[in-house]
Amino acid sequence: MKNELRSEKVLLLDFGSQYTQLIARRVRELGVYSEIRAWNINPEEIIELNPTAIILSGGPESVAQGNSAPSVAPSVLTMGIPVLGICYGMQTIAAQMGGAVQNSDRREFGYAQVKVKHASALLMEVSDHIDESGAAVLDVWMSHGDNVSSMPEGFVCIASTESCPIAGMADHKRNLYGIQFHPEVTHTTQGSEIFKQFLFRISGCNPSWTAMAIIDDQIARVRSRVGNNNVLLGLSGGVDSSVVAALLHRAIGDQLTCVFVDNGLLRKDEGVSVMEMFAKNMGVKVIRVDAAEKFLNRLRNVTDPEMKRKLIGNTFIEVFEQQSAKIKDVKFLAQGTIYPDVIESAASNTGKAHVIKSHHNVGGLPEDMQLELVEPLRELFKDEVRKIGMKLGLPLDMVYRHPFPGPGLGVRIIGEVRKEYTDLLREADALFIEELRAHGWYEKTSQAFCVFLPVKSVGVVGDARRYAWVIGLRAVETTDFMTARWARLPYDLLERVSSRIINEIPEISRVTYDISSKPPSTIEWE
Ligand code: XMP
Repeated sequence: MKNELRSEKVLLLDFGSQYTQLIARRVRELGVYSEIRAWNINPEEIIELNPTAIILSGGPESVAQGNSAPSVAPSVLTMGIPVLGICYGMQTIAAQMGGAVQNSDRREFGYAQVKVKHASALLMEVSDHIDESGAAVLDVWMSHGDNVSSMPEGFVCIASTESCPIAGMADHKRNLYGIQFHPEVTHTTQGSEIFKQFLFRISGCNPSWTAMAIIDDQIARVRSRVGNNNVLLGLSGGVDSSVVAALLHRAIGDQLTCVFVDNGLLRKDEGVSVMEMFAKNMGVKVIRVDAAEKFLNRLRNVTDPEMKRKLIGNTFIEVFEQQSAKIKDVKFLAQGTIYPDVIESAASNTGKAHVIKSHHNVGGLPEDMQLELVEPLRELFKDEVRKIGMKLGLPLDMVYRHPFPGPGLGVRIIGEVRKEYTDLLREADALFIEELRAHGWYEKTSQAFCVFLPVKSVGVVGDARRYAWVIGLRAVETTDFMTARWARLPYDLLERVSSRIINEIPEISRVTYDISSKPPSTIEWE
């Protein structure tokens, strides 16, 4: 199939920066497709990819390591494709082309102001302030130890700070650019403008990567891949599988069958709302399997968290397989794998981002299922998945909902899982979320939920002492879920949540708020 949507692409060569994915997202937000590959991709592959522009990311290494420092194939810098090096990316351009990089004893980390030095296509008409000499000044984010001390021949200095005299350089003839600061982070207020200059003014890209174009493209791809065959999808009610369901339904209609497994560990009304939205409103074929009893029976007397996870995962596969065996002529299994899963599993498997292993996010389905995978979101970041979800008509509440772990309430009940506990936890959790939404805090937190603590604590109701269960509230702010800060919820809101839970659920006598950040704690309690 001719690939119009990706005919213009930015190749992002990754040197291991924590910001690499952010660079790709910034480029895509501006409407240009970008793809991440390892820095040591071979040059033939680059020619095959035929990028319109190349960006070299930052990274933790030092060019001063000499020959062992990662560097791009020399042809990357001579093939006539515009190149932008960011931080380490700039330093490697300098070192590879005959300039010099010095190891500075002064690490620069945080806000800085750079003065724009020389009229360059990259920083043209970009400024936050104008200084007394009339020069443009930019507020930027710096994070580096080394810096370029002398530029290769043909380059001019386009930006500088007091501690970093060469904070930007350009070779206009060869279309090679480098900046020491990070345009991808929001602290660099003109970051997007700088990317725009590079993409549109310098590289001549046209913005075509939009939510509608992605949908059309995926629909065409799915149709051509699937033909007249049937596709099976495990629908969990989470954002990714829901968007896959909506997209595939639009692409292949009744050839899609979804299986929704109610494992008894779902949030309040989850099953009803999934059926309502997909089966009733959208006309998607959804088989709802009520397997709560099976899951709860298996979980009886099991207290070890990893054991619980395994049991839940295996039982899911078993139920899912039983159902899929009943559906005739299924050739494909659809999954909600997204781009960060692909990049991360590729990077962790091989250290190179271009060998891609398929990622089983339904929990490792057995190979003998012999189904081929359809993963229409595997090129997309979460924010892009959300945008196309909205365009496909999914409700805002569903598209922007907090993530929910596969093992569900199973890892939010400490120790043994019992039906009685799941029922109480579901009620308390629904109250907490309702209050967060009502006070505008659902959107301000990244994940929030209740945890059931199987200890009895005393309370006094009227004149009577009551021994009842304890609920923990957890709310965190995070962008990557690798680190997280406990959310500073207002005391009044916490008070309201606590009193509603204790008053409306008689089996609960105490509510606590978890003030642990990650690390060292994790977001979930088990
Ligand atoms: P932790 O607790 O490790 O959680 O800080 C980080 C993120 O991962 C989610 N999580 C899981 N998701 N299966 C999942 O699908 C799991 O077993 C699991 N454990 C944690 C958690 O909800 C948070 O978003």
